[in-house]
Amino acid sequence: MTKDTKPLHRQTIAVRHGQNRTMEREHNEAIFTTSSFVFDNAEQAGKLFGNQSSGNVYSRFTNPTVAGFESRLAELESASHCVAVSSGMAAITGTLLALLKSGDHIVSSSALFGSTVSLLTTIFEKFGVQTSFVSLTDPKQWKLAIRPNTKLFFLETPSNPLCEIADIEQISSIAHEIDALLVIDNAFMTPILQRPIEIGADIVVHTATKYLDGQGRCIGGAIVTDDASIHEKLFTMLRTTGPSMSPFNAWTFIKGLETLPLRMRHHCSNALAVARWLQNHSLVKRVHYPGLQSHPQHDLAKQLFSGFGGIVSFEVQGGKYDAWAMIDATEMLSITGNLGDAKTTITHPATTTHARITQEARDRARISDSLIRLSVGLEHIEDILADLELGLSKVGGNR
Ligand SMILES: Cc1ncc(COP(=O)(O)O)c(C=O)c1O
Repeated sequence: MTKDTKPLHRQTIAVRHGQNRTMEREHNEAIFTTSSFVFDNAEQAGKLFGNQSSGNVYSRFTNPTVAGFESRLAELESASHCVAVSSGMAAITGTLLALLKSGDHIVSSSALFGSTVSLLTTIFEKFGVQTSFVSLTDPKQWKLAIRPNTKLFFLETPSNPLCEIADIEQISSIAHEIDALLVIDNAFMTPILQRPIEIGADIVVHTATKYLDGQGRCIGGAIVTDDASIHEKLFTMLRTTGPSMSPFNAWTFIKGLETLPLRMRHHCSNALAVARWLQNHSLVKRVHYPGLQSHPQHDLAKQLFSGFGGIVSFEVQGGKYDAWAMIDATEMLSITGNLGDAKTTITHPATTTHARITQEARDRARISDSLIRLSVGLEHIEDILADLELGLSKVGGNR
């Protein structure tokens, strides 16, 4: 269906791309729950194992259901290659393992998901890879942090949880001046709202656990690139070290992709309504959402995104106990660390997602004790606002 016709719209790609029907003519994508594949004869097995012909050998390397997810996600990101892995953290770890060696240096944004900070500091430092942390929003700092051994730039945009935004084009030209690779975690926007590879990123990493699934069912991740030689290095590292995606999870993510464009549109409109409502609430000190005119990078957000996303964070008047009281007083919202779900989730980053990093790293990322992160879901907006009002009524002297 893609032959010599017009390119398909992204919404159609999300529903249809990459399906290879079997001889059974199933309409829905099949799940191949098999660890290995059989060969017609020993010679064919030898050729497949010796890379003289291509085909499935063993599901740690390739699996048709996983390949279906990989090809659909790559197409959505405007790229030609994707490796699916067992989690978003496996995607980041695998990328760094495949592309760096001891003695190399990374420049990274300081505003990052907590486990990514721990990975770069405690784990990769142990293996001789050092990281300098700089501001996501100030390209000059990226340039100043470069060392002779800098090989990779890493960033998350918008950042988790403050929704700061990187000027991808500027940061990618700084990276490319020194032949460093730019890796971007596109968890918050998904390829529906932002496509970093089209504007200079070399690699996009995903936690499929979030919006790509969209219903909080499975853990998974993916690495997307348009560069065949980078893909080869990633594929070799990941299939050798082994954090492969299970076929069942891949199938769940394929189903997630089908509704991704529709869901993202609704997440964006609900989140904008929530952000505007919070901004006018007397018990809220500050709201961080790129769709608000008060966001310091609202103009950049308009250039880069085709919607402002579903994550809103805000600071309540007071401190940690006010934030906790607000969270505890909500009745419908789910108190959970996940995001990108159909259900609205509410999180206190300082004591959950960012609890395992040092106070210094939290301060650097401007994660205060009064900060709350919402992943605005797909419920009716009036029900979400009513529950937030219930929560806010417990802030300050109102407990
Ligand atoms: C921005 C971001 N990147 C990566 C991850 C890690 O994903 P996973 O939990 O699938 O390993 C998360 C998890 O919350 C995240 O928010």
